[in-house]
Amino acid sequence: MGKFISLKTAVPGPKSTELAKREAKVVAAPMCDALSPAWIAEGHGALVTDVDGNTFIDLTGGWGCMAVGHSHPRVVAAIKDQADHYLHTDFTSVPYEPYITVCEKLAKLAPGDFEKSVALFNNGAEAIENAVKISRHVSGRNGVVVFDRAFHGRTLLTMTMTHKAKPYKAGFGPFAPDVYRMPFVTPYHPSITVDQWEKLLTTYVDPSTVACIVVEPIQGEGGFRVPSDGFLEMLEEVAHRYGILLVADEIQAGVGRTGKFFSIEHWNVVPDMICTAKSLAAGMPLSAVIARKDIMDRLPGSSIGGTYVGNPVACRAASEVIDIIRDERLLERATALGTLIRGRWNSWKEQYKIIGDVRGIGAMQALEFVKDHATREPATQLNGQIIRECLHNGVLVAGSGIYGNCIRMLVSLEITDDQINEAFDVLETAVAHANQSLTS
Ligand SMILES: Cc1ncc(COP(=O)(O)O)c(C=O)c1O
Repeated sequence: MGKFISLKTAVPGPKSTELAKREAKVVAAPMCDALSPAWIAEGHGALVTDVDGNTFIDLTGGWGCMAVGHSHPRVVAAIKDQADHYLHTDFTSVPYEPYITVCEKLAKLAPGDFEKSVALFNNGAEAIENAVKISRHVSGRNGVVVFDRAFHGRTLLTMTMTHKAKPYKAGFGPFAPDVYRMPFVTPYHPSITVDQWEKLLTTYVDPSTVACIVVEPIQGEGGFRVPSDGFLEMLEEVAHRYGILLVADEIQAGVGRTGKFFSIEHWNVVPDMICTAKSLAAGMPLSAVIARKDIMDRLPGSSIGGTYVGNPVACRAASEVIDIIRDERLLERATALGTLIRGRWNSWKEQYKIIGDVRGIGAMQALEFVKDHATREPATQLNGQIIRECLHNGVLVAGSGIYGNCIRMLVSLEITDDQINEAFDVLETAVAHANQSLTS
């Protein structure tokens, strides 16, 4: 135990165990699959305290929703204030200002020297579904190009666009038509080269029938894969040449995590549409599609939307998140955290053979564990062992990767150096143990 981690019981403690028993009786089985066996009572900044009084350092941030930390006081105040006035109308019934304010702020932040307009939704999958709908409507085309190891959600269309069969797709077909999967060109998992990509595309689909290319500028669930130099620029060029819309899925990488508000800003690439969610409203359900205004203006009224989309409480939270990122200089903090994370992890890489790759941008960093550096065979089970050891020693940490052999940082940008260093002491011990199992 250290300055921040405080374990008063074994994990899970008696109260968490009791809740798990109630859960098993009534909650749908596929939902009873939480990373943490400890049930939360309080969350503040990067710390989570469970119902048994155990305090953990949280490196998962609600699967990447907590860039400004758990229960940031400014977000909480905005939510309470909004709740005192009104909770819901449906923006298309009785409109309200908080919706416009979020749209104004997002339009200003999004790259591109053109007018933008913004539509709000509830979650990531809805934003992606709508970006595809919009692309199809304005282009009069059906095709959607996605990538290997992509994750875009769990609805019929977004599950089709997602790569991984188990657990996301197996048994849930038939899938949506006209979705074409192409290689995501990245250094650690070489497939084709950037130059070969367009030729391969044209063997799968006539590009003149493609409405959009949907790409995560840095893949999230796929293991924080950063594209090879020139890849995103090539996609933009190919998209423009064939009249295809380029959609950036910033649902995991956006809202400051990489040191830029949108991760695509690390490249000289301007998408036609950006989808964002997760950290946007600090855990309140809100997502956005930010598009060129000339594109959005071509859709008929009520053709996109939904009863709860752009809820005023969620809008007030998002508005506050955007201001907090500016006021607390969290983009600079994300970059500094990236330097700290990489500094420690690169030194581990020299000591522990199990670490195959350290990669990412800003605070969006991942470790990939392999059994062998030459073959890069995934060390999936040992990754699971590392995560479990961390959990039982007071650190919540998220896995990722198509083979489940990566650890990813989805940490709050509010975490202090002392907190992350304490969490990394626990993580390093777990990595050392896994390394021992690998080499013995
Ligand atoms: C890149 C990306 N796109 C889309 C989604 C789907 O978002 P949601 O779970 O809010 O529907 C996720 C969720 O993890 C994601 O990481």
